Amino acid sequence: MNSASAVKTKNTATDKRFKMLDATIKRYQYQQDALIEILHKAQELFGYLENDVLVYVAHSLKLPPSRVYGVATFYHLFSLAPSGVHTCVVCTGTACYVKGAQAILTNLEKSAHIHAGETSADGQISLLTARCLGACGIAPAVVFDGTVLGNQTPESVLDRIKGWLQDGSS
Ligand code: FES
Repeated sequence: MNSASAVKTKNTATDKRFKMLDATIKRYQYQQDALIEILHKAQELFGYLENDVLVYVAHSLKLPPSRVYGVATFYHLFSLAPSGVHTCVVCTGTACYVKGAQAILTNLEKSAHIHAGETSADGQISLLTARCLGACGIAPAVVFDGTVLGNQTPESVLDRIKGWLQDGSS
């Protein structure tokens, strides 16, 4: 058992994205020198580098978490946490793209005035993209506040976003 297994929580055991991250870490043979490449992959998978993910990578590579945080905060291309109250991550991987991920994004930009990589002006919603959430069978997939939902449509995503916006203004 590698050290990554030791820190597996319920979330990391059931979230397929951690499996895909594991595969990448394995491909780099757990080399500490591959930290940046591995963080890249993690950001692709999760949309941003949340705390759990950084700790997971640190354990996997047997690096002190402070080192991983240091690297993640040093490079501008890494985003540590979305600043919005809610987070919506639209998968733009191949399977989701083919099933209409672009229409979901375009609709959000037009109707809710939120652009990928940005947080809404009222600070309610951060919209991010990821490349393959490991849920291709239910493409197009979108993660709403950490929950992966499949078979999304531009309308279903917009409805949920509007619900968040209404909650935030009430
Ligand atoms: S491409 Fe979207 S979940 Fe795999």
